[in-house]
Amino acid sequence: MKHSCSERRMVTIIWSLCLIFCLSRSVLVISSPAQHLCFPDQRDALLEFKNEFYVQESDPNMMPGDKKTEMWRNNTDCCYWDGVGCDSVTLNVVELDLIGCYLNGPLRSNSSLFRLQHLQTLYLAHNNLSGTLPDSIGNLKYLRVLHLVSCNLFGKIPSSLGSLSYLTDLILSDNDFTNERPNSMGNLNRLTDFQLVLLNLSSLTSIYLGSNKFQGMLPSNMSSLSNLVHFDISGNSFSGTIPSSLFMIPSLFGLYLQRNDFSGPLEIGNISSLSNLQQLYIGDNNFSGPIPVSISKLVNLQYLDLSLWNTGMGMVDFSIFLHLKSLSYLDLSGINLKNSSTLSLPSAMKEFILSSCNISEFPMFLENQTTLLSLDISANQIEGQVPEWLWRLPGLRFVNIAQNSFSGELTMLPNSIYYFIASDNQFSGEMPRLICELDHLQILVLSNNNFSGSIPRCSKNFNTIAILHLRNNSLSGVIPEETISANLRSLDVGLNQLSGLPKSLINCTSLEFLNVEDNRINDTFPSWLRSLPDLQILVLRSNEFYGPISSSGGSMSFPKLRIFDISENRFTGVLPSDYFAGWSAMSSVVVEIFDSMFGFRVAGSTRDPYHNVVVLTNKGLDMELVGSGFTIYKTIDVSGNRLEGDIPESIGILKELIVLNMSNNAFTGHIPPSLSNLSNLQSLDLSKNRLSGSIPPELGKLTFLARMNFSYNRLEGPIPQATQIQTQNSSSFAENPGLCGAPLQKRCGGEEEEATKQEQDEDEEKEEEDKVFSWIAAAIGYVPGLFCGLAIGHILTSYKRDWFMRIFSAFLLR
Ligand SMILES: *[C@@H]1O[C@H](CO)[C@@H](O)[C@H](O)[C@H]1NC(C)=O
Ligand SMILES: *[C@@H]1O[C@H](CO)[C@@H](O)[C@H](O)[C@H]1NC(C)=O
Ligand SMILES: *[C@@H]1O[C@H](CO)[C@@H](O)[C@H](O)[C@H]1NC(C)=O
Ligand SMILES: *[C@@H]1O[C@H](CO)[C@@H](O)[C@H](O)[C@H]1NC(C)=O
Ligand SMILES: *[C@@H]1O[C@H](CO)[C@@H](O)[C@H](O)[C@H]1NC(C)=O
Ligand SMILES: *[C@@H]1O[C@H](CO)[C@@H](O)[C@H](O)[C@H]1NC(C)=O
Ligand SMILES: *[C@@H]1O[C@H](CO)[C@@H](O)[C@H](O)[C@H]1NC(C)=O
Ligand SMILES: *[C@@H]1O[C@H](CO)[C@@H](O)[C@H](O)[C@H]1NC(C)=O
Ligand SMILES: *[C@@H]1O[C@H](CO)[C@@H](O)[C@H](O)[C@H]1NC(C)=O
Ligand SMILES: *[C@@H]1O[C@H](CO)[C@@H](O)[C@H](O)[C@H]1NC(C)=O
Ligand SMILES: *[C@@H]1O[C@H](CO)[C@@H](O)[C@H](O)[C@H]1NC(C)=O
Ligand SMILES: *[C@@H]1O[C@H](CO)[C@@H](O)[C@H](O)[C@H]1NC(C)=O
Repeated sequence: MKHSCSERRMVTIIWSLCLIFCLSRSVLVISSPAQHLCFPDQRDALLEFKNEFYVQESDPNMMPGDKKTEMWRNNTDCCYWDGVGCDSVTLNVVELDLIGCYLNGPLRSNSSLFRLQHLQTLYLAHNNLSGTLPDSIGNLKYLRVLHLVSCNLFGKIPSSLGSLSYLTDLILSDNDFTNERPNSMGNLNRLTDFQLVLLNLSSLTSIYLGSNKFQGMLPSNMSSLSNLVHFDISGNSFSGTIPSSLFMIPSLFGLYLQRNDFSGPLEIGNISSLSNLQQLYIGDNNFSGPIPVSISKLVNLQYLDLSLWNTGMGMVDFSIFLHLKSLSYLDLSGINLKNSSTLSLPSAMKEFILSSCNISEFPMFLENQTTLLSLDISANQIEGQVPEWLWRLPGLRFVNIAQNSFSGELTMLPNSIYYFIASDNQFSGEMPRLICELDHLQILVLSNNNFSGSIPRCSKNFNTIAILHLRNNSLSGVIPEETISANLRSLDVGLNQLSGLPKSLINCTSLEFLNVEDNRINDTFPSWLRSLPDLQILVLRSNEFYGPISSSGGSMSFPKLRIFDISENRFTGVLPSDYFAGWSAMSSVVVEIFDSMFGFRVAGSTRDPYHNVVVLTNKGLDMELVGSGFTIYKTIDVSGNRLEGDIPESIGILKELIVLNMSNNAFTGHIPPSLSNLSNLQSLDLSKNRLSGSIPPELGKLTFLARMNFSYNRLEGPIPQATQIQTQNSSSFAENPGLCGAPLQKRCGGEEEEATKQEQDEDEEKEEEDKVFSWIAAAIGYVPGLFCGLAIGHILTSYKRDWFMRIFSAFLLR
């Protein structure tokens, strides 16, 4: 298994799944089935436990499993219930495995679970136990394994845990657990409850507390944890120094302390016998000064993550690594190596990460690193050609050379390559035709270079590629149908001079992202993309698309679409009022993420060498979306076309919409009051249309609505008095001859006229609300399908979401 610091969380789950298999599937297997009959009190406890939760699979972050508890029936032998394991001799229930069983509800201190006194292994990971972990957990005194990853738990770890003297595996990652604040002045030497719990559990071999909200210091003397093998507290806010006693635990194999606030000095201490430590992740902390020579004492290290160590402008002395003969993974990203002596490592490297290291020369020693699998030298200042020897390394799979100043033509790529990321350089010439010959290529990112000519036409065998990003080059001609692999998940060819949208995209059933903005595509609206079940982002902006955007076959259902931008084209026609009825992703809170990409391993560091920012310009509202903001961003932009007729009523069901831009078209009729259902809306632009009637006062309810523009229409009557509306600049209402009242200068006319007008409007609104209601009903029909779609890809979701979004959105945006 190879690890990058970014994949630690995935390793956690893989490891814990292994554990489930090792323990539950082999050790506790029931040997002679016919003879078991569980104890009635234990059976009843299980049945009552089952009833403490409601089973509902609404949370996309839950790992999908079976609804095991629903199959439990009274008057059957509970030892045969799915998820229940009995000891073959004592017949006691000793194991409960309900990982991802869609349990919702708190684990109360009087839960029947705590009557299962003989439990040894408890797996409840990936359920929604939203609440605290009750003190009664201490009643389960034979507990060996406690696995509560991603359970939506918060609060303190109960001190009763400290008395579970058989506990070997404490796995609480990815919750919101906290601990008491760091000791206040008076009692600096007093151990906190949290520390006492930890130190008392001397049987522990595995501690996984990553991605919680722990803070404070680790106990300085951790030698009581004498059996410790894995210690993972990554992604918390621990501070202070790393206790050297930790390094002295002879059994210690993996230490995962990355993404905390630890600071120096790093003392490894006097290691008498050989250290067994093979994996040390201390990147993304607050270490400064020189990298300590003492690391060289950890002679068995294979994986070392020192990223973002602040060495200032000082040199990094590579002789530190001379003794680390087994080192195969090294992450030095974010460390300034500008002044360091010639880079060189004695061991056979497999993964080498030097992202953002301020280096200006290609690390030449790699020439003889024939085992190299993965190289990331992105975000440096390397100029010139990529040395040819790089492509002769026999096992090279993942290469990230983005954000440098590489130039020249790209003529070679080895057949071993899986990912090649070379965006933000100055490569020129034609795109290498040989990409068609590569058997494993899955990610090709060449955005922001000077490639010209056409995209090579590959054969049908070119079918491995999943991410193809060629944005912002000078590519022309058509996008060849043959080059569009059916496995494509993301295609970005924006900002080129391409002229055709390949129909073969219809066979890309996994496509999630399609961006062809700013090209010369002269074609009709690709309504056939509707059949792509996972399409989330569709950007056709600034092309020469023409014709209607609705098809005769009823509503245009894009169930997962979150970003729809067809602005600045020549689209025409009327949108039927149910146009948006099937756009479930924009009408529900389900947060889709690009989870189907999880199969990929990205050569690169966890941090963000890319500029991971989407800037979506919305006529005056520039929104910057970083990281997870991108996942929830939902927008519709149809501006700059020639669409006409009414604004579809069904717009009102897109409750999650954040930006709506319909400006610069030929829409007529009234502004639908159903817009006031868009309670998350932050920007609304309806300017430059032919809208008539009044501005619905209900829009004043939209408390997040920061920008709105109604200018250049035929609106009339008083501008509603709501604060949100009144704080707009008067230009937002300009050029509507009939509009009056603040913030416009123009005063409204006679009161009487006003009143009747408002009554009329109210009547109309009622009618329109009724219409909206029926569209809501129509939309509900689409929702179950959406939930069914939340399938296997979610397994690792909660582990990798934040990492993944950073890496993946980086790809999306190149
Ligand atoms: C299960 O059935 C037994 C009798 O068959 C009954 O005594 C017991 O209360 C039942 N348990 C539950 C939880 O319904
Ligand atoms: C988790 O459970 C809590 C309370 O039981 C509930 O409010 C919340 O909606 C649940 N979360 C999901 C995603 O189902
Ligand atoms: C457990 O406690 C809750 C309140 O905390 C109470 O509502 C519930 O009835 C109790 N259940 C049992 C079985 O005592
Ligand atoms: C430590 O463990 C022992 C049993 O092994 C227990 O009696 C004691 O209460 C525990 N102390 C703490 C602080 O948890
Ligand atoms: C650390 O704690 C152990 C007991 O857990 C004790 O034997 C040892 O002396 C302590 N070491 C130091 C340096 O305090
Ligand atoms: C480490 O061990 C050496 C000799 O074994 C001794 O001289 C030195 O004082 C020890 N250092 C510490 C910090 O214990
Ligand atoms: C990081 O370390 C510096 C001193 O080197 C300190 O001033 C700063 O507060 C630390 N930051 C955090 C977040 O602990
Ligand atoms: C690092 O190099 C720069 C110029 O290349 C030089 O000015 C600076 O003194 C050097 N710093 C050290 C610590 O060597
Ligand atoms: C890179 O080096 C230059 C000069 O040697 C220095 O000014 C700059 O701050 C360095 N950048 C980083 C990220 O360390
Ligand atoms: C790589 O090995 C070859 C032959 O052993 C040697 O000639 C060459 O100098 C080495 N290159 C580097 C950069 O060490
Ligand atoms: C889609 O795939 C099928 C089967 O491979 C093929 O026959 C068809 O021509 C493809 N469609 C397009 C538009 O390429
Ligand atoms: C689009 O193509 C048609 C013919 O296929 C042509 O008549 C029309 O002028 C083209 N539009 C633009 C904007 O180039």
